[in-house]
Amino acid sequence: MTQSAVVENPLLEGLPKDRAVDPFAMVILGAHGDLTKRKLLPALYALYIDGLLPRTFAVVGMSRTVIQDDAFRNSMKEAIQKYAPDLKFEEESWNRFASCLYYRPSNFTEEGSFDELAKFLEELKDKHGTGGNHVFYMSTPPSLYEPIVTQLAKSKLVSKKNVTDKPWQRVIVEKPFGHDLASSLGLDDHLHKVLSEHQVYRIDHYLGKETVQNIMVLRFANGIFEPLWNQKHVDHVQITIAETLGVEERGPYYEESGCLRDMIQNHMLQLVSLVAMEPPASLEPEASRDEKAKVLKALRPIFPEDVDRCAVRGQYGEGYINGAKVPGYRQEDRVAPDSATETYAALKLTFDNWRWAGVPFYVRSGKRLAKSLSEIAIHFKSAPHSLFAGLTGLKAGQKGDDDQLSPNVLVLKIQPDEGISLKFATKQPGATTQIRWLNMDFNYGTAFGVRSPSAYERLIHDCLLGDASLFARTDSVETSWRFIQPLLDNWDLAKQKKGPQPRFPNYAAGSWGPAEADELIASTGHSWRRL
Ligand code: BG6
Repeated sequence: MTQSAVVENPLLEGLPKDRAVDPFAMVILGAHGDLTKRKLLPALYALYIDGLLPRTFAVVGMSRTVIQDDAFRNSMKEAIQKYAPDLKFEEESWNRFASCLYYRPSNFTEEGSFDELAKFLEELKDKHGTGGNHVFYMSTPPSLYEPIVTQLAKSKLVSKKNVTDKPWQRVIVEKPFGHDLASSLGLDDHLHKVLSEHQVYRIDHYLGKETVQNIMVLRFANGIFEPLWNQKHVDHVQITIAETLGVEERGPYYEESGCLRDMIQNHMLQLVSLVAMEPPASLEPEASRDEKAKVLKALRPIFPEDVDRCAVRGQYGEGYINGAKVPGYRQEDRVAPDSATETYAALKLTFDNWRWAGVPFYVRSGKRLAKSLSEIAIHFKSAPHSLFAGLTGLKAGQKGDDDQLSPNVLVLKIQPDEGISLKFATKQPGATTQIRWLNMDFNYGTAFGVRSPSAYERLIHDCLLGDASLFARTDSVETSWRFIQPLLDNWDLAKQKKGPQPRFPNYAAGSWGPAEADELIASTGHSWRRL
């Protein structure tokens, strides 16, 4: 093969070699699904136009549907224009990118189903100079993960490798990683039969969000926050992931999953671990993953008898979102009319360690809430002596709302208005001393004025570089399932119509969730932030 026969990416002049991605072929299994259209192809194309893909690469979409390469390319082109309107789409660069894009139909679970793929990847090695480095992206229903890995191994496309082995083979697994503790351990056993842990990349897209990555920078690149980041100075922490969206077309998936599995076990506990972990010793991928795993192990278990005291579940009824009437969860497509699946969960978490002893972490997530918004709020303790009591609108000794009791709140805004805000007390101008609370705001968009890469861009790029820092490691996944298992056991009983039934729906679409969640946080004298 001559060098000139290889299709090259011309955008790479001057890219620093240490962050350069090896040539590769990525196989997307389940390429006909929504994720490929909405996230994966837009992310790959964005990496391409930003010059972050190597000179030579290929992408192969696979699923059961029988279509030709060109039809696949056309549908991906439409998808990118539709789902990634902020990308600079140009025919010329698209055509170059599309010449590296292929499609192969396949029934993944059949014996020998990947033998053809193995031959095709050999061809691509010559035609596109992929170097034989392969990444397999599982974008299929989770029930197919195990059979796919088995077949990939049988066709000799994956086997256990050492970290430094070349060519490399990596597998990206989409959440959910199992349905509960037992099935997640089973999945990991299966993966580890044919792959080493360093070859498995478990995607939690929250970890790819710019503002989530910024938590580490904020905490460990600045000297002023870390001394305050502990039980001496922090009163409590509130983390909210709120969505106005309902379950859309995902009724059958969501009926099986519910909010605890869909958001809390993964995204929420990953955020909790980033906020609560100790400083890692280095930027080596394993260093921060070690710390995240360690702090999750320090979460105080919620025993079956504590479930009602530490956790609240909710399900939305009909209501209004942005002025438009929307149906309740039980009226959604392919949802049982008496469903006991939770669309909202709020938990009180506590750590048994020195840094966080006695500091409650309140977390909540739900669908069809009043706003789409994700944030982490660190509520600091009040000044030890309230010199200005009475000048704050409160009389000395009088209790106000939570904001007035603990004026200093550091908010890490994850979405939609990414930024950081610090609330503090100040003197209102005038001849008398009156206290006002103000926010010192930093906004990502206005400060940097550049497009933030999508979470998938960052994560796919990291996987291609062999950097697993932002992917969930097996021990963290196990610990988080272990932690929520008693809740699942309790709440699943109701779903199976075995235990007492929750009084669902218990919040209206467009509200801030069930009243029980307010009681949960009020039990320690706090209240949810008004967002
Ligand atoms: C996914 C959940 O993991 O995260 C969805 O399955 C949820 O139910 C989504 O809507 C939220 O992600 P984001 O990035 O929109 O906050």
